[in-house]
Amino acid sequence: MFSESFLWGGAIAANQAEGAWNVDGRGPAKTDVTTGGSVKEPRYVTYVDKDGNPGKVAHGRPLPEGASYAILEDCYYPNHDGIDFYHRYKEDIALFAGMGFKMFRMSISWSRLYPHGDEETPNEKGVEFYRNVFKECQKYGIEPLVTIWHFDTPLYLEENYGGWNNRRLIGFYERFARTCFTEYKGLVKYWLTFNEINNTVMMLDLFGNEAGDAEYQAGYQQLHYQFVASARAVQIGHETDPDNMIGCMICGITFYPGTCDPEDILLNRHSWERGIFYCGDVQCKGKYPTFAKRLWAEHKVNLDITEQDLKELKNGCVDMYTFSYYMSSVVSTHKAQETVSGNFTAGAKNPYLQYSDWGWAFDPKGLRYYLEMIYDRYEKPIMVVENGLGAYDKIEEDGSIHDSYRIDYHREHIKEMANAIDNGVDLIGYTTWGCIDLVSAGTGEMRKRYGFIYVDKDDEGNGTYDRRKKDSYYWYKKVIESRGTEL
Ligand code: BG6
Repeated sequence: MFSESFLWGGAIAANQAEGAWNVDGRGPAKTDVTTGGSVKEPRYVTYVDKDGNPGKVAHGRPLPEGASYAILEDCYYPNHDGIDFYHRYKEDIALFAGMGFKMFRMSISWSRLYPHGDEETPNEKGVEFYRNVFKECQKYGIEPLVTIWHFDTPLYLEENYGGWNNRRLIGFYERFARTCFTEYKGLVKYWLTFNEINNTVMMLDLFGNEAGDAEYQAGYQQLHYQFVASARAVQIGHETDPDNMIGCMICGITFYPGTCDPEDILLNRHSWERGIFYCGDVQCKGKYPTFAKRLWAEHKVNLDITEQDLKELKNGCVDMYTFSYYMSSVVSTHKAQETVSGNFTAGAKNPYLQYSDWGWAFDPKGLRYYLEMIYDRYEKPIMVVENGLGAYDKIEEDGSIHDSYRIDYHREHIKEMANAIDNGVDLIGYTTWGCIDLVSAGTGEMRKRYGFIYVDKDDEGNGTYDRRKKDSYYWYKKVIESRGTEL
C-alpha cells in the first residue's frame, strides 16, 4: 500500500525540455552539439577538425585528435529548442498540478548558471529562472526533486579542461552545487547529485571491442572524480540545510542469467556488481566495494585516488537511493539467438517478455526484483525517479490521444511497486519519466513519446509546441487521487 505521504509525480531534464539553449546568457553544453537520430541512426556529435573540415562522430565516441566541437549548418539539434519549457513552465506546472503531482523532478542546466563552468559568480538570469520555477511549484504544493547534473557539462569545460577527465571539474561542480543549495534553500529539499552516474562504464560495455583499456581507464577515472564531486555536494547540501535529502541516481537495469549454466550465474552476479552495485556502493556506503579491484584489473585501470578523496567519500554518503527503471536485460556466456537494445545496455532477447518499438523490454516484475534487492543492500529510502514507455502516439480527429499502452505500462509497474512496499521496501516516491513529451536522450527523437501530456513538435522541429492531454493524463490523476488503489 502507498502511504499518504507517497511522492507521486513526473520527471524531465533541462537539456531535453528547456530549449532556449543560448538565451539569457546560457552557455552551450555537449547536448547542444548533438544531432537528432533515430532507432536506426545514432545521434552524432559534430565538430570541425584541425584543418577546419566539418565532421561528426557517434555520440559517446571520442572526437578525432585536434578537433573542436561545432554547430554545423546542415545539421538539426533537437535540444536547442527542447519543448520550450523555458518559456512555458507556468503552463506545464499548472498541467502537472492538474494531475495532482506531489513531486516534480527536473534538472538545473549547469551552463545556464555558469555559462563556461569555471566562472567565480553565477549568471543571475539563470539563477532567477530556476527560482521562478520553484516558486511556481510551491504555489501548487509540489515538491521539486532537483538533479544537479543531467548529462550536461558546459561545453567550455569539455573543450578547455577535458571534461571529467580533469580533477579540477570537482571544484567547478562543487561551486555550481553550492550555488544551487544556497540560492534555493527553503524552496528545494530533495536533490540528486548525478543522473545515471553508472552510465559512463555501461556505455563502454555497450561499445564492446571498440572500447579499449585506455577508454576504461578514462571512464573509471571520470567516475571517481564524479563520486568525489557528489560526496562534496552531499556535505555542502547538509551544511546548508540539514533538512536536505540528497540522493544518488543510478540507471537501474535488472540483470538475469540467460541459462542456469553456473558460468551464466556468475556472469549475472558480476553484471550487477559492475553495472549497478559499483556506483551504488560508493555513494551509499562511502567506500569502494571489495570487487572494485577485480573490475579495475580487468582493464588494467590505475586510478588517481587520494587519501582525502577517500575521506570525502566516507563523509558524503547519500540519504536516499534513487534510480531509473525501464527494463531488465539478459546476460549469457552462450551465443544468443536474438539480441535486443536497451537503455545503455544490450543483451539476449527474453522470450518471456514483450518489447517496445525501440526494443526495450517490458518487465514490471523486474522493477520489484530491483527494489527488493537494492533495499536489502542499503536499507535507505528509495525513489523510482524515471519509469515510462517511449511510444508512438496518434492524435484522433477529435484531438484525443488514446494511449492505453502507456496506461498499461504504468499500471503494471505501480502494482509491482506496491508489492515491493508490502515486502518491506521503504519506497517513498515515483516520478514517471517524461511526464510531458520531450526530446529523447538516446535518439534525439520527439516521436518517442513518454508523456501524459502531448507536445506538438516533430523530429524536424516543426509544430506549434502546444500541449494536449492524453488519456493517460486523466488516468494518472485518478491514480494519485486514490493513492494508487484505482489503477
Ligand atoms: C534515461 C535518462 O537514460 O532514460 C533520460 O536519464 C532519458 O534522460 C531516459 O531520456 C529515456 O531514454 P530515451 O533514450 O528514450 O530518451
